Amino acid sequence: MRRLGIKQKIWMTLSIVSLFTILTGIGLTFYLYEKFYVEKQIELLLMQGKRLEAVYDQNGKGEEFLKRVQWTDEGSEGKVIFTDDPMLLSAGVPYDEYFNTNLITFEERQQLLAGKEVIMIREHPRFNQDILAVTIPLLQEELLQGAIFLYMPLEVVYEPFQSIRLLLLLALVFVLLIVIVGGRKISDHLISPLKKMEVISHKMMDGDFTQRIHIKTRDEIGSLSQSLNSLASSLEKVEQQRREFLQNVSHELRTPLSYIKGYTEAIRDGVVVDNEDRNKYMNIIHHEVSRLQRLVNDLLDLAQLEGDSYPMKHEPLSFAQLTLDVLERYELITKQKNIKIQEQLDDDIIIEGEADRLEQVISNLLDNAIRYTLEGKELFISLSQQQSSAVFTIQDLGPGISEEDLPKVVDRFYRVNKARTRKDGGTGLGLAIVNQIVKKHRGIFLIESEEGIGTTVTVKLPLLEI
Ligand SMILES: Nc1ncnc2c1ncn2[C@@H]1O[C@H](COP(=O)(O)OP(=O)(O)O)[C@@H](O)[C@H]1O
Ligand SMILES: [Mg+2]
Repeated sequence: MRRLGIKQKIWMTLSIVSLFTILTGIGLTFYLYEKFYVEKQIELLLMQGKRLEAVYDQNGKGEEFLKRVQWTDEGSEGKVIFTDDPMLLSAGVPYDEYFNTNLITFEERQQLLAGKEVIMIREHPRFNQDILAVTIPLLQEELLQGAIFLYMPLEVVYEPFQSIRLLLLLALVFVLLIVIVGGRKISDHLISPLKKMEVISHKMMDGDFTQRIHIKTRDEIGSLSQSLNSLASSLEKVEQQRREFLQNVSHELRTPLSYIKGYTEAIRDGVVVDNEDRNKYMNIIHHEVSRLQRLVNDLLDLAQLEGDSYPMKHEPLSFAQLTLDVLERYELITKQKNIKIQEQLDDDIIIEGEADRLEQVISNLLDNAIRYTLEGKELFISLSQQQSSAVFTIQDLGPGISEEDLPKVVDRFYRVNKARTRKDGGTGLGLAIVNQIVKKHRGIFLIESEEGIGTTVTVKLPLLEI
C-alpha cells in the first residue's frame, strides 16, 4: 500500500472525526426523540385509556361508556377499540376478529389477566405497519371482563420527525462537503510550509545555501523554518569562509613559489653568472622558503587551535619570565631598529597554561609592535594584576589601525597593507593565532588603536587559583 502523507492523514482524521460527530449527533437526536416524544405519546394513550377505564368502573359497559369510547376514538390520532368477547380475550386477541393471535404474546396476556396494562411497539400482523399500542384490562371482581386497546401507527408518531430527518441528512451532506473541500484546504495550508522546507533542504544538500523560507507564523512550523533559515545562514557562512580560506592559502603559496621557481630556473639555466648575483638570488629563495615554512607552521597551529580537541597543558607559569624570554630573542632586531623597550612587569603574577603557546602570543604581538614601529621610537610593555586577572599590554607609537580595519585584523589572512606586509614577511595569521590561544586559556584579547597615534594590545588571563 502507498504510504499516506501527513496531508492525507490530517484530511482523513478530519473526515473521520466529523463523520463520527455527525453520526453521534443524529443517533443522539433519534434516541432523545424516541425517549421524549414517543414516551409522551404512550403517556397520552395511557391517560386516555385510564379515563375510559374510570368510566367503565363507574358505569360498566353501558351506553355512556361506549359513547366515550367512540368519542375518544374520533378525537385522537390513534384508534380506540373496546372488546368484551371472552373468547377473544382468552385467546389473547381481544380486539378484532381479524386479528391474528400473534399480536400479543402469552406473557402479555398473563399481564392483562393480572390486571396490568400492556405497552407495545411492534408490527401489526395484518396491516404490515408498525404500531404503538396500549392495552388496558377491564376487571370486575378480579376477573378480566374486557379490554381497551388504543393504538396509533408509528408513522404518525414519527411524522414530525420526518422533517428533522431531512434536515439532518442535509446537514450531513453539507458538513461532509465542507470537510472534503475545507479539510483539503486546511491540510494544504498546514503542509505547504513543510513542502517548502523539504525543497530548501534538498537544495542545501546540493550545496545551495542561499534559499530562505518566508514563513511568519509563530507556531512550531514557524520556529522550525526559522531554525532551518539559521542553519542555511550558518552553512552559507561556513562555505564562504572555506572558499575564502582556500583562496587565501593558494594566494599565499603562489607568490613565494613563483619567486622560487623563477630564481632557481635562472640559476639552473646559467643566466646568472655573477657570483654576487647568485648569492643574492639564493638569499631571496631562502627568504621565500622560510616564509612558506612559517605559513605552513601557522596554518597547522591554527588548524590545531581551532579544533575542539586541542590538548592545552595547564602548568603554573610566571608571565613576567615568559615575557623576558621572548624579549631576549628580539634583542637583536630592536637594536637594529633602534627601538627602546620600556617594560614594567609584575614578577609575582602566576598564571596557568602552556608555556610554548603563551610565548607564541607574546612573540606574535611583539613582532607586530616592532614591525609596525618606526625606527628610533619607544615601545611600552606592562604586566599587572587587576582583580583576579593578569593584564598584559604592549603599546606602540606606530601608524595605528583604522577604525574600519580594526575589527578585521584578527581574521585569518587579514592584512591592512598587503604589499607592505608581504615585504615585511607577515602571513596575516599572527593575530588569529593569538586570539585562539588566548581563548583556549579562557582569556580576553583586545586591540585598541588610533591612526597616527599608535596601537595597544591587551591580553587578560585568569590568575592561577590557589
Ligand atoms: N601594532 C600594530 N600596528 C599597526 N598595525 C598592526 C599592528 N598589529 C597588527 N596590525 C595590522 O593587523 C594585521 C594583522 O596582523 P597579523 O595577524 O599579526 O598579521 P601579519 O603581522 O602577519 O601581517 C597586520 O597586517 C597589520 O596591518
Ligand atoms: Mg603579525
